[in-house]
Amino acid sequence: MFYNKSNDHMCGIVGYVGKNECTDILIDSLSKLEYRGYDSAGIAVFDSGEIKVAKSKGRLADLVEKMKTEGKIKGHAGIGHTRWATHGEPSDINSHPHSGKRVTIVHNGIIENYKQIKDFLISQNREFLSETDTEVVAQLLDYYYEGDPLDAIIKVMREIRGSFALGIVFADFADTVYAVRRESPLIVGVGENESFIASDVPAILKYTKNYYLLEHDEISVLNKDGVKFYNLHKKEIKLELKTADWDMDAAEKNGFEHFMLKEIHEQPTAIRTTITPRIVDGLPNLEECGITPEALKKFNRIHIVACGTAMHAGTVGKYIIEKLARVPVIVDIASEFRYRDPLLDENDLVIIISQSGETADSLAALRLSKEIGAKTLAIVNAKGSSIAREADMLIYTHAGPEIAVASTKAYMVQIAVMYLLAFELAYAVGKIDIDECRRLTSLLSSTPDIIENILEHKEHTQYIASSLITADSLLYIGRGLDYALSMEGSLKLKEISYIHSESYAAGELKHGTISLISDGMPVIAVATQKSLFEKTVSNIKEVKARGAKVIMVCRDSYDPEKDIADYKFGLPDIDDIIMPMIAVVPLQLIAYYTSVLRGNDVDKPRNLAKSVTVE
Ligand code: AGP
Repeated sequence: MFYNKSNDHMCGIVGYVGKNECTDILIDSLSKLEYRGYDSAGIAVFDSGEIKVAKSKGRLADLVEKMKTEGKIKGHAGIGHTRWATHGEPSDINSHPHSGKRVTIVHNGIIENYKQIKDFLISQNREFLSETDTEVVAQLLDYYYEGDPLDAIIKVMREIRGSFALGIVFADFADTVYAVRRESPLIVGVGENESFIASDVPAILKYTKNYYLLEHDEISVLNKDGVKFYNLHKKEIKLELKTADWDMDAAEKNGFEHFMLKEIHEQPTAIRTTITPRIVDGLPNLEECGITPEALKKFNRIHIVACGTAMHAGTVGKYIIEKLARVPVIVDIASEFRYRDPLLDENDLVIIISQSGETADSLAALRLSKEIGAKTLAIVNAKGSSIAREADMLIYTHAGPEIAVASTKAYMVQIAVMYLLAFELAYAVGKIDIDECRRLTSLLSSTPDIIENILEHKEHTQYIASSLITADSLLYIGRGLDYALSMEGSLKLKEISYIHSESYAAGELKHGTISLISDGMPVIAVATQKSLFEKTVSNIKEVKARGAKVIMVCRDSYDPEKDIADYKFGLPDIDDIIMPMIAVVPLQLIAYYTSVLRGNDVDKPRNLAKSVTVE
């Protein structure tokens, strides 16, 4: 289980006010957010003037079933929630919405000081049913409510601490929904005589592409007259209307069995969309992001800070930037970086990589770096996200919405951007000449076609996956870029197949870990680097000799003897330096098919959620 010190955190919030019956809309919108959290769900709807609540542990489908037996609630305004519980196990009583006497809320995020507030409210004879921090907020709203919802909300906002988003309904104000944001994203969608609140754009795409992005400590009020926004001084404020550039099918599976497989197949397009606007006359050109070679070359050290798969993309970035530009690169896990009092100064560049742009640890690392005075560059996929807005420099990846919890296309475009940065920097500091820079850039541009070709042979990875499904544990080994890549392969497998695995530097195995090799234990050997190939093969022989079942990911031109590999996934011959772009694809597919073969829910693996917006 993924634990943290608070109750709920990564969840989905929705809300609706308008001409249509809202229960089905709330459920449908929640289904688009299930990737964010999905171990319990609930809605609260104004039904003939009073707030009716339906909620249950389990998936959204369980809630729908429950409503069938308990009687469907009907109305034109309401709020809804899918929960990713980590503290306060998934249960009916812990699921949202939570209520006070006259207030009902849904919540995403952390209330850091909920304990003190709960103690105070208990001293005021308030009783609690659940162990969630959410219920504390509901009771506190009720405590402050004296007839004006905005006054109560503002008082509560001044008292609670943490990062959160709330959807709120007051019994005395039928068909009105209030929403407030502090850090955790929340948007207000507007359609024809109807308006919405949601944690993320996919929830409203079916109904409207027009939305407002609530900023820090901003409140919105949705009713039949439309939407209004207020700050904490109860002053009405104007927000900029935005239009989502995602369309429906982009947020749907369009024919694929899982979002993850769809997103693996979208990688060629994601690469083209991300790099093409950043290549001018065959050379990297990041000026559209406000980044010039002169700006890049003045840093004498680069830190890359991220979490999970994004950190793995940064590790690939380290190898290629150091190899080509000869500039030192330090890769850090964000949750370590932010508490280690990092050695940074104004000559450092800190690159924060994040698909969601909301990962709490990465956002905190960004803020810390800025406080220390280092320059910051964000590489982010989600437009308008917190990390994207707070970094000094920004390169958006254009992978489109990544719905599957296991990141694939976002990783791919993150490393594609790493390549552009490495080529531009290496040329700027004179380590490669313009011809080499152009050659490498053209290599990068050739990868989408190569990946499309690899995807045509994906059934071979299904065959390889079938040899893994009974494994208890396996190793991914490699050297250099292959080692960096094996980290990502291992995480992919773990998070969706639930089989333990570990990535290990192939040359390091003999210093202890090789004792793990037992008869038939799978070892996935990534051996694409020509410059290290012989050495990797001798490491493979070491594990084979001890009974390992070896799967080699290597160039097609190499035909391993039986005493070296049991399975091989062959790749086209391209330069060592660019191999990660294509070698990661079989690793993603092996993880995907292993998960499918084990009957797991690939897109929504247990214990996880798409964006970890808290510590
Ligand atoms: C990726 O497969 C994982 N789901 C996870 O490690 C993810 O990469 C990590 O949480 C970072 O998320 P971010 O890129 O949105 O910051």
